[in-house]
Amino acid sequence: MMTANEVRESYKKFFEAKGHKIVASAPMVIKDDPTLMFTNAGMNQWKDIILGTKDPGMDVRRVDSQKCLRVSGKHNDLEEVGHDTYHHTMFEMLGNWSFGDYFKEGAIDYAWEYLVDVLHLNPEDLYVTVFEGSKEEGLSRDDEAASYWAKHVPADHIINGNKHDNFWEMGDTGPCGPCSEIHVDSRTPEEKAKISGRDLVNHDDPQVIEIWNIVFMQYNRKSDGSLESLPMHVIDTGMGFERLVRMLQGKHSNYDTDIFQPIIKEIQNLSGKKYGFTTPTGENGEGKDEQEKIDIAMRVVADHLRAVAFSIADGQLPSNAKAGYVIRRILRRAVRYSYTFLDQKSAFLYKLLAVLVQEMGHAFPEIAAQQELITRVIKEEEDSFLRTLEKGINLLNGDMDELKAHGQKELDGTSAFRLFDTYGFPLDLTELICRENGYTVDEKGFNEEMAKQKARARNAAVVESGDWEIIKDGEQNFVGYDYTEYECSILRYRKVTQKKNTFYELVLDNTPFYGEMGGQVGDQGSLVSENETIEIIDTKRENNQSIHIVKQLPKDINADFMACVDIDKRDGSAANHTATHLLDYALKQVLGDHIEQKGSYVDATTLRFDFSHFQKVTDEELRKVEMLVNSMIRQDLPLDEHRETPIEEAKELGAIALFGEKYGDKVRVVRFGPSCEFCGGIHAQSTGRIGFFKIISESSVAAGIRRIEALTGKACEDSIYAIQDTITSLKSMLNNSKDLTATLKKFIDEHDEMRKEIEKFQAQAVERIKGELINKAKEVNGVKVINAVLPLEPSAAKDLVFKLREAIPENLVAVIGSTSNDKPLLTVMFSDDMVNDHALNAGKIIREAAKLIQGGGGGQPHYAQAGGKNLDGINAAVDKVIELANL
Ligand code: SER
Repeated sequence: MMTANEVRESYKKFFEAKGHKIVASAPMVIKDDPTLMFTNAGMNQWKDIILGTKDPGMDVRRVDSQKCLRVSGKHNDLEEVGHDTYHHTMFEMLGNWSFGDYFKEGAIDYAWEYLVDVLHLNPEDLYVTVFEGSKEEGLSRDDEAASYWAKHVPADHIINGNKHDNFWEMGDTGPCGPCSEIHVDSRTPEEKAKISGRDLVNHDDPQVIEIWNIVFMQYNRKSDGSLESLPMHVIDTGMGFERLVRMLQGKHSNYDTDIFQPIIKEIQNLSGKKYGFTTPTGENGEGKDEQEKIDIAMRVVADHLRAVAFSIADGQLPSNAKAGYVIRRILRRAVRYSYTFLDQKSAFLYKLLAVLVQEMGHAFPEIAAQQELITRVIKEEEDSFLRTLEKGINLLNGDMDELKAHGQKELDGTSAFRLFDTYGFPLDLTELICRENGYTVDEKGFNEEMAKQKARARNAAVVESGDWEIIKDGEQNFVGYDYTEYECSILRYRKVTQKKNTFYELVLDNTPFYGEMGGQVGDQGSLVSENETIEIIDTKRENNQSIHIVKQLPKDINADFMACVDIDKRDGSAANHTATHLLDYALKQVLGDHIEQKGSYVDATTLRFDFSHFQKVTDEELRKVEMLVNSMIRQDLPLDEHRETPIEEAKELGAIALFGEKYGDKVRVVRFGPSCEFCGGIHAQSTGRIGFFKIISESSVAAGIRRIEALTGKACEDSIYAIQDTITSLKSMLNNSKDLTATLKKFIDEHDEMRKEIEKFQAQAVERIKGELINKAKEVNGVKVINAVLPLEPSAAKDLVFKLREAIPENLVAVIGSTSNDKPLLTVMFSDDMVNDHALNAGKIIREAAKLIQGGGGGQPHYAQAGGKNLDGINAAVDKVIELANL
């Protein structure tokens, strides 16, 4: 029996022998593409080739195994995962590609040969589908594909499929085409005898499932819904690796293969629960439901662990926004299932990482190399979510107490939704806890709240992009490494509307404008023709091109233009980008080789650099880093740039590549002396242009990730002036002291001395005042009322009222208004009997009375203090307390 690793190898080797180049999986996390957060299909990384904006070059046949994640957007399997045995969040997609080379016949013949001749799947178990055509699209049945299948399978194994199943689209717009799927029937002979596999294809039978999708990309879907032909026919195939392995290993569930079993075994060890323990425990089948939930939870955990670990390895940390939030949600789903059904009340997923690395670290070295970081990030996320879970459970307990007090049995939808929204409680968890306590949940109300929120999110996020209006055919030529101004004309443009703002995106034939990428902001500048100047407010990057954002289109769209980059801004961001390279180098020198870049941001005035490191960087280390960077700046190391370097050569040069970054066969290497990195960004011509480098902060971003913010050049100069100005004004305040530190220290010591003295005097005063106040106390209906306004420190006022209570333990109402540093303070004390027998509450009363001093505060029923802003109101506030006490 082949192992999973052998199956992956055999697929690549088969297609290599058929002239395909073996290529690496692109990162699962997509950066620099506004339309997609995660790789959800093997074809994502070839989108620009398929759309015709990039030439495939010599390698028109390729093969790979692509890490995919389907949890957001058009292809979303998240809710199914765990409940069945063949959907995943992260999965591997085996793909072979033809860019304008073989088409339907070649793809079908290869697929058949691989499955039947190489892997020896039984042809009788295989069914294929072809697109049945669609009237509304004006497309007829894919007879061509059917005729090629007929070479291999009998007619009753060829099934027509509708647009939903047999017309593949990447998203709402973009490349698409009819497809043929291969389904495998893995049922037992007895089951097969009862009903033909043909009738179960595409009917959600867990044993008759699709394993391979062969897409004949021949159209581009436009934003108005219409289809246009693609310039080149493309074969895009995607085979579910986990499903294929399951067929070959004769299993009935993906989770029973050697891809998942080691993880599931570890989950069993750690949780003490059993997986796939199908025999019900009781005679009447009791316990079956419980076991099913345990199985689901284990599948959820095993699946989600992979998705989360690989995303972190590719540089996406869990966070509150966008892709980071998707990862956080997946991780939390795993925590909830293990918390509820596997009884894991403390962090647990992170313990599984070692097994995952052992199983997959060979094929995917990125997870082995970052094992410690991934483990820490997962553990911290788990810990913090478990705390949230606990808070949510307390809240729910409070809600249930209310229900009990009002004799009700159902938790309302709004409360259930609040638990979901704020504390990540899915409805099933809330229902479970409620059920255990004898309550139900208003599911309809919950769904209504959910629908409302979805509508809100939709309205906020909609970006409407029109179709590209083609002015001229051609590809874009980027000249920004050498020029900041260049002659150009417009190739195409489109209109984009977001939150009622309209702008236009332009693609130029030649452009010096750098589109935002790799943490460096996009260029700004202008587009100048003989008759007008159009401002370029930003430049983004999409499908490998610079997209220029303008608020209005030029009047003459066909004119010749000069594209002029704003040089000051460009010089600033270039210098800051170079400084991050030097910083990266210096950090590795000072802290060690474990330093990995985990994110960066550079614009014209600031730079930020995130990196893996497991403790705070000390002040001495930061100083060393700064000194090293500044010495490299003073050496004025020239930019040594190697464009279009074959990747192997670049590695030999010692260039540093980033995990999670997508690199082609040829890369650009940027070197400044000993610092050498793969980089597509814009840099200073030499390090001297940076001027000076100063770190302004070092902090933690997440477990194991630190952030440094720094200034360079002019911004450093400004900051040094600001520091100098502060020192100068301090000096002049301190009589131009020569030794500022010693003088300040003296002042602070004197100040502390004086404080102590004041406290001593106040304590004596409190003793004296106490006596006077007791003598002057009024009696109202048997209650001793003490009220006064005195100059006292807050601590002395507190001290005073407690002493008064000691002296008069019963029937006491004491209110002291005091002032300290021109601020009013109200202090209230009631004896215990006033609280218990007269229902007085100092905390509540003071809140009301403090309004008169424009303040707020609170406290306990017998004692409370409130500060304020309005000194003039203090007498009235004291009177108000007496009035509210209502004696
Ligand atoms: N793009 C197709 C899919 O994702 C085939 O690779 O199913």
